[in-house]
Amino acid sequence: METPLAEIRNLPQLKGRTVRLRGWVWNRRGSGRIRFAQLRDGTGFAQLVAGEEDLDAESFELLKRLSQESLVEAEGTVAENGREALGVELRLSALRQLSGSEDYPITHKEHGTDFLMDRRHLWLRSPRQRAILAIRDRMERSIHAYFHEQGFLRVDAPIFTDNACEGTTTLFSAEYFGSPAYLSQSGQLYMEAAAAAVGKAYCFGPTFRAENSNTRRHLTEFWMVEPEAAFMELPEDMALGEGLIKRIVADVLGECGPELALLGRDLAPLRATAGCASFPRLAYDDAVEVLKKNGAPDFRWGDDFGGPHETIIAQQYSTPVIVHRYPCACKAFYMKKDPEDARLSLSMDILAPEGFGEIVGGGQRETDLETLLEGFAKHGIAPSTLDWYLDLRKYGTFPHAGFGLGLERTLAWVCGLPHVRETVPFPRLPNRLHP
Ligand code: 4AD
Ligand code: MG
Repeated sequence: METPLAEIRNLPQLKGRTVRLRGWVWNRRGSGRIRFAQLRDGTGFAQLVAGEEDLDAESFELLKRLSQESLVEAEGTVAENGREALGVELRLSALRQLSGSEDYPITHKEHGTDFLMDRRHLWLRSPRQRAILAIRDRMERSIHAYFHEQGFLRVDAPIFTDNACEGTTTLFSAEYFGSPAYLSQSGQLYMEAAAAAVGKAYCFGPTFRAENSNTRRHLTEFWMVEPEAAFMELPEDMALGEGLIKRIVADVLGECGPELALLGRDLAPLRATAGCASFPRLAYDDAVEVLKKNGAPDFRWGDDFGGPHETIIAQQYSTPVIVHRYPCACKAFYMKKDPEDARLSLSMDILAPEGFGEIVGGGQRETDLETLLEGFAKHGIAPSTLDWYLDLRKYGTFPHAGFGLGLERTLAWVCGLPHVRETVPFPRLPNRLHP
């Protein structure tokens, strides 16, 4: 009977057994009587080792010539090796090359970011990129689990749209059978309709912003999770966002230890976040005072925060901080006015620590038809383009709130990555649409 095919991730449980592996050669060393190769099969990285006596002459010779990313089939015994990350290695009894690989461009020396980005389809094979993909996947599962446990229904929002949820300046146009259409900036308005149907709805999908900003926080295509709940007001909205972030971080800490270690992530800010009683809540007015005292003396009340402002505010805390009640002028047409101060909106942003900036934006929605129409006028929105949205205020208007959490910015913070481009398998940036 043929030796069973194993996955590298399961090798620690197969100590002493004879198994077969298939994978790509990541690295090799040794040309003397004992030779090593690092094999990766997508599920992990494992060391292959063979002495001259273990293999026939041809296979032993092959072990010396294996080129990076050639595909091999290896057979051997799973042996203990405390110096390996897995705690085991494969002592070879047979080795066969299945396909070759000549002049693999991403060698084990340092490469520049542009070089690597141009070869993103291959760069993904590196341990670092694999670790980021695994943490991203873990976060996506935590997000779905969290909302379902809270009684939310996942409701998918469309990507083709005829409205501008977040302002007309950052819309990507698409032609739709002769009529103008756009790629969605946010599923929020549709989730507001869904909240009246199912009570608590969330969507989680790609969103698009034509922001020609070459910063470490901006992508033109990014994934956003957007909950929207009937009868939820600003305090519960903040608590929902806080709970989501804590849940994501706790799950990543609990299950992605090896990946975080590989990335060299300092765990202190993550542990502080998962373990804190609650995130600090700071009114916009107080945030402005913080700015004035800490390096932005000229900041004017009423302006929106830029990246450097968010960094100053976040630096005051070891966990994410929630800033609430921004001036209406900083926020979109749908934000509810603060009944206690008409200059302010019932909005909130959550800023990540360590300078990673805003990861959540949301708030309570305007429920009054007349006030909403005034907001349309201020923002230059023709009521006819959002007639269906106005219906939500005509037929049983209801208090509701929600937010959007950007997956990539959150992931960049969780992993401690200097730039969001590494958080997406195939990032879309102002100057990058290929591969
Ligand atoms: O603050 P934003 O623009 O909020 C909305 O779109 C609301 N309609 C969401 C809602 O209430 N349902 O975006 C929300 C989050 C930001 O906090 C940020 O994490 C992320 O989306 N984001 C981006 N991430 C990467 N690149 C960009 N260009 C981003 N723009 C926003
Ligand atoms: Mg925002």
